[in-house]
Amino acid sequence: MHASIVESIRPAGMTRRQFIKSVIAAGAVSSSGLLFSGPAGAGPKASPRVVERLLTLDVNGQRRRVDVLPQETLAQTLRHKLGLTGLKVGCDRGECGACTVLVDAVPQYACSLLTQSVRGKSILTIEGLARPDGKLHPLQQGVLDEQGFQCGYCAPGFLMATLGFLAVNPHPNRQELAHGVSGNLCRCQDYDKILTGLMRGAEYMRKE
Ligand code: FES
Repeated sequence: MHASIVESIRPAGMTRRQFIKSVIAAGAVSSSGLLFSGPAGAGPKASPRVVERLLTLDVNGQRRRVDVLPQETLAQTLRHKLGLTGLKVGCDRGECGACTVLVDAVPQYACSLLTQSVRGKSILTIEGLARPDGKLHPLQQGVLDEQGFQCGYCAPGFLMATLGFLAVNPHPNRQELAHGVSGNLCRCQDYDKILTGLMRGAEYMRKE
């Protein structure tokens, strides 16, 4: 605190040291009040009770029951409650595409969807691509064969976006596919190799 401010508000009869100590002590009380205010509803300014609701979601062909908060995003539910950590959270605000999943076969940013809004819809994450026997999806195999990513953080999002795009355009040229996945960003800037891998994967898919 600036010395002139201290002097202007210091009560008469209190030394400067005593006054600063009293200000610090008041701050500590205030902080602990915030930290230990107890469960919602217990404090004098408690926010309204937030209630989780039990939902059944269709994820990767399985019915998953999960308690969901009203403000919870699909990315939070999938990663933190259902253990599907394949989807990544980069920006958490609909800009990077790392969290892309398919909702009723359409690529969506899971960080920007409320989980309660996808009830009754079919959700596909990167974990749902490989076959039950462990064989990779042809799109995954194509990326693997071309070693298409550097750090790989954005890979699940790119693959899911590509799957959604190929459902409407199964025979894209390189430029069309680049446009199709333009909602996904790669922090390594490895777009050329990514596109090569995705094009290879699309080719494998057509041969299946
Ligand atoms: Fe969802 Fe970036 S984490 S768009």
